[in-house]
Amino acid sequence: MSDESITLCTVDEIPPNTSKGFTVGKQTIFVVNRAGQFHAYLNRCPHLGIRLEWQPDQFLDTDARLIQCATHGALFLIETGLCIAGPCAGQHLTKLACHSSNQQICVTLPLSSA
Ligand code: FES
Repeated sequence: MSDESITLCTVDEIPPNTSKGFTVGKQTIFVVNRAGQFHAYLNRCPHLGIRLEWQPDQFLDTDARLIQCATHGALFLIETGLCIAGPCAGQHLTKLACHSSNQQICVTLPLSSA
């Protein structure tokens, strides 16, 4: 089964050190811009399998250095999705292939989840 590449938005819609949430098919995902590099994940905390944010597009801690789950405060590395503190330490967010091209941000989802 092949994967599906989806255009989410323009790069200008996610400034450096911010994040943005999206709904794609049945999935909710989010993208973080870390110093011009875009990282995409399924919006599902490995602790309870629920969404991470409590306000729209707010997936980062106050310093914008880590991804933070709003429910119990788990902290994740932006680059890898590894949880480094909190109730699911050592587990990972589900990372999605993400790239920017022609000022557009694209992610690749498994075809069955789109
Ligand atoms: S649901 Fe995310 S840390 Fe508990």
